[in-house]
Amino acid sequence: MVKICCIGAGYVGGPTMAVIAFKCPSIEVAVVDISVSRITAWNSDQLPIYEPGLDEVVKQCRGKNLFFSTEVERHVSEADIIFVSVNTPTKSRGLGAGKAADLTYWESAARMIADVSKSNKIVVEKSTVPVKTAEAIEKILTHNSQGIKYQILSNPEFLAEGTAIQDLFKPDRVLIGGRETPAGQKAIQALKDVYAHWVPEDRIITTNLWSAELSKLAANAFLAQRISSVNAMSALCEATGADVAQVSHAVGKDTRIGPKFLNASVGFGGSCFQKDILNLVYICECNGLTEVANYWKQVIKVNDYQKSRFVNRIVSSMFNTVSGKKIAVLGFAFKKDTGDTRETPAIDVCKGLLGDKARLSIYDPQVTEDQIQRDLSMSKFDWDHPIHLQPMSPSAVKEVTVVWDAYQATKNAHGVCILTEWDEFKTLDYQKIFNNMQKPAFIFDGRNVLDVAKLRKIGFIVYSIGKPLDPWFNDMQAMP
Ligand code: NAI
Repeated sequence: MVKICCIGAGYVGGPTMAVIAFKCPSIEVAVVDISVSRITAWNSDQLPIYEPGLDEVVKQCRGKNLFFSTEVERHVSEADIIFVSVNTPTKSRGLGAGKAADLTYWESAARMIADVSKSNKIVVEKSTVPVKTAEAIEKILTHNSQGIKYQILSNPEFLAEGTAIQDLFKPDRVLIGGRETPAGQKAIQALKDVYAHWVPEDRIITTNLWSAELSKLAANAFLAQRISSVNAMSALCEATGADVAQVSHAVGKDTRIGPKFLNASVGFGGSCFQKDILNLVYICECNGLTEVANYWKQVIKVNDYQKSRFVNRIVSSMFNTVSGKKIAVLGFAFKKDTGDTRETPAIDVCKGLLGDKARLSIYDPQVTEDQIQRDLSMSKFDWDHPIHLQPMSPSAVKEVTVVWDAYQATKNAHGVCILTEWDEFKTLDYQKIFNNMQKPAFIFDGRNVLDVAKLRKIGFIVYSIGKPLDPWFNDMQAMP
């Protein structure tokens, strides 16, 4: 029986390994982590992450050929193939701070593998890493163990949170990079054999190591760039009376462009896009490619601009101050169908409003009060470290209340912000919400999910990103 061990039981390690176990009953899969609370949760009925379809997959195989454990060293030493899916945050200090990837967790995992291995291993980079990381990992492994042969593969993960199980069941492609030596090719084949249990052969792409490592950074940069492109257009739409949804539709009909990932919004979030682009920028700078670095940097600048533009729009339209006003925030997760708040635009928007002394009442169907308070009090880049290293009980932001119902959040509010596109926000009783709000009642739709005409008919003053503006906003802008 082939034995797989995955180091890191997070958003990637957990679902990916659960699907491998589900699709390959002949393979034993152990997912290990240094976080005891995370492993305890994986072994309970309340999994540590919310992902549609995940519960069923885990329940089918847990205890049969899928195991979650804190016995990191034992499982690593027994495995034939070791996936490493630990955090690769942005460095917050020292050389490359604010851009370079922090490989502390990766390096410690690699040193531990070298310490405990007694047989040859295939080590798979599942985390997103800077191009050329495999070379460094190879050095750490070979300099720290004798007589053991390691093959490093790059097998970046392309799943999207919220649709992870669907993406893993039917991936657009699986990418495997390895050394172009006979031993490297043999290792590639071994990993290919795992995926071949359910992924059609023509969807498994094999490349050299550096192409695989760079492809993941490139894919995230292209995806984020699309969002920044449409968001840049949304600003121009508001200035000209064009409607960004109509523009996206018309542009996306071009088969060379395609319709996906063209929704204007308050900005992209999630643990990867910003981190991976910063990493790409750093790699370009280290290679003397200043123009290329600046090109990609702009994607992040436009994203930051979009978030601050949203906050400015709220404040300027509400008579240039939100001080003491209650603002309801509907949605805090970085996208729907996940409880993940890493780099969610809601953090910057909320901080912006708090900076203008607003009182916030926040509701998200999947995010806990503790998480929201933690996010609003943590400094930039501190979030992406193993949970047990994060502050346990941050000092709560007192102007923020977290409630478990959209109607409670909006009661007596001066304004409502939609920051996540949860389906349930489309079907709320907006007449009831309007009746219970202060007047004039404002709605700022940061995800373009609401029926603007219907809301205007009820009496709301509505701002929806990239849509023709209510005359109110032009009047307010004209104010001295
Ligand atoms: P995560 O933070 O959810 O999980 C990482 C886990 O690794 C944590 O539970 C942490 O305790 C554990 N860990 C850290 N060091 C360890 C060590 N030395 N030994 C054992 N466990 C250790 O992170 P996530 O989201 O799963 O991301 C992991 C990697 O995958 C990152 O490089 C990320 O960029 C990449 N990725 C993430 C995607 C996503 O949608 N979240 C998608 C594709 C790639």
